[in-house]
Amino acid sequence: MMNKKGKFIVFEGLDGSGKGTQINLLVQQMQKDGRTVFQTAEPTFSSVGGIIRDALGGFQKRDAYEMSALFLTDRIFHNINEKNGIKQFLDKGVDVVCDRYYYSSFAYQGIDANLEWVMKMNLECEEILKPDICIFLDVDTSLCDERIAKNRLEREIYENKAVLEKIRKRFFDVFELLKDSENIKIVDAARPVSEVSADVIKIYNDIKEN
Ligand code: TYD
Repeated sequence: MMNKKGKFIVFEGLDGSGKGTQINLLVQQMQKDGRTVFQTAEPTFSSVGGIIRDALGGFQKRDAYEMSALFLTDRIFHNINEKNGIKQFLDKGVDVVCDRYYYSSFAYQGIDANLEWVMKMNLECEEILKPDICIFLDVDTSLCDERIAKNRLEREIYENKAVLEKIRKRFFDVFELLKDSENIKIVDAARPVSEVSADVIKIYNDIKEN
């Protein structure tokens, strides 16, 4: 009998949406269930990830097409590298939980770069795997702004309320475009942590045996 492949779960949400907290809670639950989990994030810690972080911090200015291409390169590396790449973990039956993935490229870069081009290069790249599920933690931008103001000394280039408003709208445009081809769940994340977590765990329970 073939070994069952691991599940590939992606979290998306605006800066300040509480992804980190919810990812940690889900991973704890999965481990209690006896699953082996690889917890990861984009941008990665590859050298390209470093170039991306310089741009996010505003140290090196880059346009949306450059950013799209950098995230694409980082994502291919994230999938295929043999040491800690997503693909080799899934093949071994390890579950992968990833903080951000191509949906972020569509929402963040798909505003100033051509959305169709950004989507095509990610979705048609054979080395970029499609997640089993994308969980979008939705909060309005005032709450994001409040949380960013409280938790960060400096803001990254996208961490501005007006920009986040456009990005949130872009996420919803993209989810509409992808509704027949991708498994996307939108969770209201403006509620207490335990309520949001209960919903996230329920979503995970629904896919874990398929
Ligand atoms: P970071 O501070 O690393 O994490 P967080 O997800 O907690 O905010 O920020 C990553 C930033 O990179 C975030 O502003 C979204 C952005 N991003 C893109 O613009 N495109 C992408 O494809 C990805 C993966 C992230």
